[in-house]
Amino acid sequence: MRHYHILTNLLIVTLWLFGIDIPAAWAKAEQNNCKLTYFQGLTKDLKRFDNSDLSKYQNVAAKLEHCLNESTPDLYLFKNEIFYKMGLIHLSLGNDMKAMNAFEELKNLGDSYYNVSKERLSDLYTSFGLWARLKNLLPEDDTSEFFKSLNKTLYEKIYDENKFSTIDDELVPMLNISPYDIDILTIRSDFLFRKLIDSSHFNDLTVAYEITRVYETILEKHKIMLSLDKRIQIHYSIAMIQLLILNIEPTQHIRKCLSIDMDYKPCKDLSLMVSRLNKINPTRSQLFDTQTYTSEKNIDWEEINKYYTVDKRKNQINYDWINNHIVESINRNIDLFITHRPITKKLFLKKDTKTELVSTADNFAFFKFIDIILCQANMELSLKSKNKKEHKKLMDHYCKKIMKETFSKEDLDKFVNTLNKKDAQLPEEFINTVWNTYPTVAIYMVDKIISRKNFRLHNGQLQDVIIKFFDDNSLFNTMDPFIQKEASIIQKIMNQKQKLNEQRQQQQQRQFFQQFAGGQQGQQRGPPPQQPPAHNPDKDYYKILSVPKDANSKEIRKAYLNLTKKYHPDKQGNMSEDEQKKVHEKMSEINEAYEILSDDSKRNEYDNMSRGGGPGAGASFGNQRQQGNRNGWFNFQQQAQGNPFPFGNMRGGF
Ligand SMILES: *[C@@H]1O[C@H](CO)[C@@H](O)[C@H](O)[C@H]1NC(C)=O
Ligand SMILES: *[C@@H]1O[C@H](CO)[C@@H](O)[C@H](O)[C@H]1NC(C)=O
Ligand SMILES: *[C@@H]1O[C@H](CO)[C@@H](O)[C@H](O)[C@H]1NC(C)=O
Ligand SMILES: *[C@@H]1O[C@H](CO)[C@@H](O)[C@H](O)[C@H]1NC(C)=O
Ligand SMILES: *[C@@H]1O[C@H](CO)[C@@H](O)[C@H](O)[C@H]1NC(C)=O
Ligand SMILES: *[C@@H]1O[C@H](CO)[C@@H](O)[C@H](O)[C@H]1NC(C)=O
Repeated sequence: MRHYHILTNLLIVTLWLFGIDIPAAWAKAEQNNCKLTYFQGLTKDLKRFDNSDLSKYQNVAAKLEHCLNESTPDLYLFKNEIFYKMGLIHLSLGNDMKAMNAFEELKNLGDSYYNVSKERLSDLYTSFGLWARLKNLLPEDDTSEFFKSLNKTLYEKIYDENKFSTIDDELVPMLNISPYDIDILTIRSDFLFRKLIDSSHFNDLTVAYEITRVYETILEKHKIMLSLDKRIQIHYSIAMIQLLILNIEPTQHIRKCLSIDMDYKPCKDLSLMVSRLNKINPTRSQLFDTQTYTSEKNIDWEEINKYYTVDKRKNQINYDWINNHIVESINRNIDLFITHRPITKKLFLKKDTKTELVSTADNFAFFKFIDIILCQANMELSLKSKNKKEHKKLMDHYCKKIMKETFSKEDLDKFVNTLNKKDAQLPEEFINTVWNTYPTVAIYMVDKIISRKNFRLHNGQLQDVIIKFFDDNSLFNTMDPFIQKEASIIQKIMNQKQKLNEQRQQQQQRQFFQQFAGGQQGQQRGPPPQQPPAHNPDKDYYKILSVPKDANSKEIRKAYLNLTKKYHPDKQGNMSEDEQKKVHEKMSEINEAYEILSDDSKRNEYDNMSRGGGPGAGASFGNQRQQGNRNGWFNFQQQAQGNPFPFGNMRGGF
C-alpha cells in the first residue's frame, strides 16, 4: 500500500514536470466514473443490509449526486434504487424518520422502486400522523379526514370532566391508524397516568402495562427529539413500573438509564436495590415457568427465608424494610408520575394532587412474588430443616396469603370445599391454570388435598383429577423434592385404585358370563358420562373484520379502517342511548379483533388456538391459561417469559 502511494505521488510529480494539466486529467477520470456500470459495480456486492452496507450506499449516493443531469435518466433510475434500499435498511434498523427521508429522495420515473417507496412513505406518514405530507403524496386518500374528525371529538372530550373517561373510543382507533403520532401517544400516556393515579394503591396492571408500551414506543420512534433528561426519566419510570406493578425484571431500562447518566440518583438507588434482591431471590422463571420450576434449582432456601423474615442485625434487609423502601422511593419521585412526567401535555390533572401515591406496597405484584418465594422456601424447608413444624406454619401463612390475594372468592371457596367436603370436585382446568400461572401454589394445593383422609379414602373422581394433573404435566419424574414427596403418595393411591379396578373387572366379567349364560339382556351401565370439554366461546376475529383467514396485514388494516369509519359513533348521527351502547360494543369488538390480528405473534397464537379448539379437540394447557385470563376469573398476570400479556386484554387488576 505504501509503495503504491509513493509510486502515484512520483507519477503525479513526473507528469507535472512534463507540463501535463493534472486537474483536467482528474476531471476526465471523474467523468468516466459517471457511468451506470461503474456505480453498479460499486454496489453489486452489497447484500448484508446492515449499518456497513448503509454507509457504502451513502458514499455511492454522494458520488452519484455530481453526475446527475437531464441527460442521465439511467442514473436517476439508479438513484431511485439506491435510496429505496437505504430506506429499507433504515427501516430494518428501526430508524423510521431516516427511512422517510431516504424514500422522499426518489423521483417519480414510473419505475417500480418509486412505486414501492411511495407505498412505504404513505404507510410511514400515516403511522406518524403526518397528514399534510400524505395529502401531497396521495391527494385522494381520505384517512386524514377521518382521523381529524376523531381528533375533534377527542379534544371535546379532553376538556369535559364528564366525558373524558370514554376517550378510548377515539384514542384507540386513532392509535391503530397512527401508532407513532406523538401527540396522540402523549395524550394516551396522560390519560393512562390519570387512571393509574385514580386506581387503588397506584396499582392497575392493565394500565401499568399500557403505560410502559406507550413509553417504549416514544423512546423507540421519537428518540431524536427527546432530551437526555427526558429519556432518563422515561427509563426510570418504566423500570419502576416493571419492577413493582408488573413484576418484570427491570434491569434493561435501569441499565439504559445509567448508561445516559451514571449519577442519576433514582436509577442508582433502584439499581442497588434490584441487584441486592437478585442476589438473594430465585429468578422469576425458576418460580413461574413450569419447565424451569420442575428442573433442579440450586437455591439456598434457608438463606432466603432468613433474609426476609428474620429481624437480624442492623444491615439486614427484611420484608418490612423493602416495603418501606419501595413506598418511599415512589413517593420521593412522585413528580415523575404526576406533574412533571417526561412526556405530557399536562392533561387530566386532578386539582387535589396527592402528595403521596402509595402508603403500602403490599398490593404490588412484586410483593406477591416475594410471598411466592417465601411460600416455596418454607415448603422446601418443611421437608429437611430442623424446625419442620415452624416452616410448615410459615408455608401455610404465605401460600394462603397469595391465594387470598389472587384467587376470586369463588375459586377460593372451590378449593376450600375440596378440603372439607367429602365428594367435592376440583375442575381440571382450574388446577392447570394455577399450575401454569403460579406452579408453587398448585403444588401447595395438591399437598393440602392429598393429605386429607377424605381424599385418600373416598373421593375417586378427585383422585382421578389429581392423577391426571400429575401425569399430564410429567410430575411423577421431577427434581423437586416436594413434588417427589407428593408423587409417591399419589403413586400409592394409584396402585390401590388399580387393584380395585382389577377386582371390579373380574366381578364384571363374572356378571357378564352369568348374564350370557342366563341369556338375559344385561343392564348396560357403561362408564359414567364424560364431562363435556371446556367450551371455548372464541370470537371469530376474521369474521368480525370480514377478512379471509389468509388476509395479509395490509388487507387487515384496510378492513379495520373501513369498519371503524363505518361504526365510529361520530358517523352515526343522532342515536338513542341503546344504539350508542350497541355501537360502542361493536367498536370494542372491532378494536379487539384488530389488536389480535394486527400483531403477528398474537395472531399466530390465536390461529393455533382456534385450529385446535373444536369440540373434543382438547386445547393444550398453555391455552387454558389464557382462557382463564380472558374469562377474568383468575386475576393475575403471567410473568414467566417476560411477556406478561401473551394474549389479548387483561381485565381488572388485583
Ligand atoms: C450530464 O452528465 C453527463 C455524465 O456525467 C456528462 O457527460 C454531460 O456532459 C452532462 N451534461 C450536462 C448538460 O451537464
Ligand atoms: C408504477 O405506478 C404507475 C402508476 O400507478 C404505473 O403506471 C406504472 O406502470 C408502475 N410501474 C411499475 C414498474 O410497476
Ligand atoms: C387535533 O385537535 C387539536 C385541537 O384542536 C389541534 O391542535 C391538532 O392540530 C389536531 N390534530 C389533527 C391531526 O388534526
Ligand atoms: C368497506 O366496507 C363496505 C361495506 O361496509 C364494503 O362494501 C367494502 O368492500 C369495504 N371495502 C374494503 C376496502 O374493505
Ligand atoms: C338529536 O335528537 C334529539 C331528540 O331526539 C334532538 O333534540 C336533537 O336536536 C337531535 N340532534 C341532532 C344533531 O340531530
Ligand atoms: C403455533 O403452532 C406452530 C406449529 O403448530 C408452532 O410452531 C408455533 O410456535 C405456534 N405458535 C404459537 C404462538 O403458539
